[in-house]
Amino acid sequence: MPLDHIVKDLGLAAFGRKELAIAETEMPGLMALREEFGTSKPLEGARIAGSLHMTIQTAVLIETLVKLGAEVRWASCNIFSTQDHAAAAIAEAGVPVFAVKGETLEEYWAYTDRIFQFPEGTCNMILDDGGDATLYILLGARVEAGETDLIAVPTSDEEVCLFNQIRKRLAQSPGWFTAQRDAIRGVTEETTTGVKRLYDLHKKGLLPFPAINVNDSVTKSKFDNKYGCKESLVDGIRRATDTMMAGKVAVVCGYGDVGKGSAASLRGAGARVKVTEVDPICALQAAMDGYEVTILEDEVTTADIFITTTGNRDVIRLEHMRQMKDMAIVGNIGHFDNEIQVAALRNHKWTNIKDQVDMIEMPSGSRIILLSEGRLLNLGNATGHPSFVMSASFSNQVLAQIELWTKPGEYAPGVYILPKQLDEKVARLHLRRIGAKLTVLDREQADYIGVSVEGPFKPEHYRY
Ligand code: NAI
Repeated sequence: MPLDHIVKDLGLAAFGRKELAIAETEMPGLMALREEFGTSKPLEGARIAGSLHMTIQTAVLIETLVKLGAEVRWASCNIFSTQDHAAAAIAEAGVPVFAVKGETLEEYWAYTDRIFQFPEGTCNMILDDGGDATLYILLGARVEAGETDLIAVPTSDEEVCLFNQIRKRLAQSPGWFTAQRDAIRGVTEETTTGVKRLYDLHKKGLLPFPAINVNDSVTKSKFDNKYGCKESLVDGIRRATDTMMAGKVAVVCGYGDVGKGSAASLRGAGARVKVTEVDPICALQAAMDGYEVTILEDEVTTADIFITTTGNRDVIRLEHMRQMKDMAIVGNIGHFDNEIQVAALRNHKWTNIKDQVDMIEMPSGSRIILLSEGRLLNLGNATGHPSFVMSASFSNQVLAQIELWTKPGEYAPGVYILPKQLDEKVARLHLRRIGAKLTVLDREQADYIGVSVEGPFKPEHYRY
């Protein structure tokens, strides 16, 4: 029987297992959910196709889903983010995983295809990060239905590889995409960019199943995106460049949740941080947090470090990079690599320094250091967020999977967020680990502010 996994080196499994054991001690939310649901196994019968950075923390998530009864197949949602020892540990435990750090784009889409290859024929749930697994099935089903104009002119290498993979699958198994799509009970989506794709699909009437927007649980975006990036951004820059951060001028493009964490990360390391924004509210927040708010064009010739955090496209463009001073560092921490115009640099002289670090020469002779070819650098150049914050994110993922799997028919196609009680529950599960004590309301106080003693403590419109 052919091996049902593709990993770099199964020999790394023992190392991965040891790091997993440490991560478990830092992931109290996931461990509490194992305790709570390990016997009742609410995910029994769920066949989850997972597409999310194959890291040590994700390995703890995968093993939690399995403990709760799910069958799981996994790939990474980025070509550079896999931790090979984590993938090896998961493969050795018998979970089909298809993920190698530095895989090609062709391999990326082939591995995405493999996560749907359950022995039963189809998956019935997707756990997504960025929306590529969902995109693969929904786009494939539309092409299968004869909407061939969709594949007429792919505009990027990424799209060329995606459409080649769709064509390959269609030739091998006619009807496959439609069968997969029709078997899916729901999708839970991890990140801002993937959530945006889901709302777009729903608006266009193209989302055939319900989706839970995990990103907008408060205990996800206000923690992972913010405090996670606060720890992992500088970690990525340091591991890549060993540059002295103190005293340098760093420009952070975007001051949403990731931008707030990223600016704090650089400031914490002693950099002088400037922020660019398009949204006046976020710009004002940045200013009142003490950052100079400016435009990229004013900083481009003088700053030392440029980081994009916007989830938007073409934020740092070729004309910007050509003006940067010699050895400026350029990186992105948003989900996709199109925040920086990397494609426009391909005809320049590249010198590879080490994995995920390149020096690129401009026509003027000045050079820039580009991190992870413009892909999210905290996972490409370092190991992503710490376990503790990922425990909060992934507890939301597990609760969202349980919600959609155990309540078929209760959710019409559309995009939902988890109820606030569950959000508060995730926070509660993490307090004890850091020695925090929670004050308990008495009845009079609860009545006075109009909440129940057990919560929820805030109305839906509260912004935290
Ligand atoms: P957000 O929507 O809270 O923030 C993005 C901000 O960028 C907004 O305030 C927006 O006004 C601003 N913006 C948009 N275009 C801009 C431009 N041209 N110049 C300057 N600012 C601009 O989104 P969030 O949650 O901060 O996520 C940002 C990206 O990071 C997304 O792609 C998300 O998927 C990704 N992400 C990455 C993580 C990682 O570990 N690397 C973790 C969580 C999210």
